Amino acid sequence: MPTTQEDLTTALDLPWIRCQFPSFAEKVNGQPAAYFDGPGGTQVPQRVIDAISEYLAHANANTCGAYLTSRRTNQVIADARSAMADFFGCDADEVVFGFNMTSLTFAMSRAMGRELKAGDEIVLTLLDHDANFSPWQALEERGVVIRRVAFREADCTLNMEDLAQQINKRTKVVAVGYASNAVGTINDVKEVVRLAHAAGAIAYIDAVHYAPHGPIDVRNLDCDFLVCSSYKFFGPHMGVLYGKREHLKRLQPYKVRANTNEIPNCWEWGTLNHEGIAGITACVDYIASIGHKLKGTLPSRRAAILAAYGEIVKYERGLCERLLQGIAALPAVKVYGITDPAQFDHRCPTIALRAKGHTPLELATKLGDRGFFTWDGNYYAINVTEQLDVEKDGGFLRIGLFHYNTVEEVDRLLAALREIVAA
Ligand SMILES: Cc1ncc(COP(=O)(O)O)c(C=O)c1O
Repeated sequence: MPTTQEDLTTALDLPWIRCQFPSFAEKVNGQPAAYFDGPGGTQVPQRVIDAISEYLAHANANTCGAYLTSRRTNQVIADARSAMADFFGCDADEVVFGFNMTSLTFAMSRAMGRELKAGDEIVLTLLDHDANFSPWQALEERGVVIRRVAFREADCTLNMEDLAQQINKRTKVVAVGYASNAVGTINDVKEVVRLAHAAGAIAYIDAVHYAPHGPIDVRNLDCDFLVCSSYKFFGPHMGVLYGKREHLKRLQPYKVRANTNEIPNCWEWGTLNHEGIAGITACVDYIASIGHKLKGTLPSRRAAILAAYGEIVKYERGLCERLLQGIAALPAVKVYGITDPAQFDHRCPTIALRAKGHTPLELATKLGDRGFFTWDGNYYAINVTEQLDVEKDGGFLRIGLFHYNTVEEVDRLLAALREIVAA
């Protein structure tokens, strides 16, 4: 296990990373704020804030007008589409911007629902955030049958045998999360896509939780749709969807008449959040800048993004091991999810725990007063907290580690937890 910051920062330059985030200067009761709340939304680097302000100062307009700021707006949107294409590994016209992941998923599920008939089936998992569950479950009103895949309670991993059994020739959609926002499990989504396609079904992947922690390659996954939210990867509060061109063209969106039939615009309703879109380019460039800082000049933004994630994965794993080892020494604390380091390739550094004698809300409040920002509750992964029977007792305390967190923050958090659970 890495023991010092130096061990963990040989590759990532933490001071260089951290000085880009103005929010890290925040203090609570004289203590420096430590952001472990990233699974609910990460902090943003200055370049994202600047891009949003810059847009509002110099390009603020609606699209497709015959004048300067409108043309700039069109360019800002085109730039962000190509940034997200680099992020996903797809083409720019396969990128759809939306309000957030939930509303994009409602839009896509409504459109797919138009093609479904009574008796058709959709396979969902109990490990997923409700945003990848309820929008599909709502299709029961059309007579669609929802099948639910279980997870193993011992380590909160998806039961792939159950998933394989639930898929059959009536299956039309398999909607699965890339990683659990509650317990951190990373699912074998490539295998999920393979199983879905073998049955002729569409594979819809929720990558909201995974996106800040690992590289996404939609071509390699061969998924039909993949959706994420830029506010979880250092950007503004928006959702972004990848859809295979053939599906985006074939499916019929609900839309206003004035919306063209061109993809991706036919999926983007009304006026978009242009300043947010400007911020999306900046957050993708931020991730790419980590890759360039590590490896020098690289041939493309995509190569730089992949280089960045190569080191982010390693660094976050070191932080995660350290935190879980520290927690293992606290007998009053129980962690839900994968705890065996040999299985850490299958988890994000997102830790769900409960402590004897303290509700998750009490823990989060006591930690919050000391400057540690964590979440309590179910974070909308309500099937998870229900199955593990913790919903009625306040869910979990969730600690989310990100590449911008430090060893020193993890050690201070462990000391605070120790003190709180001993009291
Ligand atoms: C795994 C996962 N899926 C979906 C969502 C919903 O995302 P949004 O807030 O963009 O609708 C979240 C939000 O926390 C999430 O963590």
